Amino acid sequence: MKQEEKRGIRMTVRISRIKKTLEKELKPSRLTHTTGVAYTAMALAMRYEGDIKKAEIAGLLHDIAKDIPSKRALKMCDKWNIAVTSIEKRNPFLLHGKLGAYYALSEFGVEDTDILNAIIYHTTGRPKMSLLEKIVFVADYIEPGRDKAVRLKEIRRIAFIDIDQAVYEITGDILAYLKTVEGEIDPQTIQTYEYYKNLLKNRAAVEKKDDNSITDDED
Ligand SMILES: [Fe+2]
Ligand SMILES: [Fe+2]
Repeated sequence: MKQEEKRGIRMTVRISRIKKTLEKELKPSRLTHTTGVAYTAMALAMRYEGDIKKAEIAGLLHDIAKDIPSKRALKMCDKWNIAVTSIEKRNPFLLHGKLGAYYALSEFGVEDTDILNAIIYHTTGRPKMSLLEKIVFVADYIEPGRDKAVRLKEIRRIAFIDIDQAVYEITGDILAYLKTVEGEIDPQTIQTYEYYKNLLKNRAAVEKKDDNSITDDED
């Protein structure tokens, strides 16, 4: 048997084990959301030619630590030497990405750094995300079970056209929403927003320059 085939089988076994654990341990609404994120992440991976299996694993595990009570989450971080920022200390639910990655590694043997980072940064994003990180970040926001965000229909459409723009639109909407409810804003979300805003601006400037040089050539 070829090495790749062996790896493929191990991956299948691991996914079925993850699914069984999720079915046993997650409350029904969380399971529905998790399944939605996994399928949406796989669809985005197809669209952007990413790794479909990695998208499924990251999607399935992204919220594995979401139901851990705040006090316990902080204790776990202390025990496992996971760095906690001051905003995470005040809002321990923000830790479920970091804790989720720890679970993925220790309970399910997920060693792939890209999958672990996609789980860690799924709530805030970060500048210069990998394709997988962007896929999980966007899938978490647009999966079919979501119905609260104001511009979902538009962002779902953008997600399958330009994933960088989708990250920009989502972080912009999250920041706008947090201002209206006076929620505390994680500086990481602002950094993500600023990074993707500049990326789109620079890309538009390059495209404009290219257009102008084509017109000049034609003259
Ligand atoms: Fe989450
Ligand atoms: Fe989620």
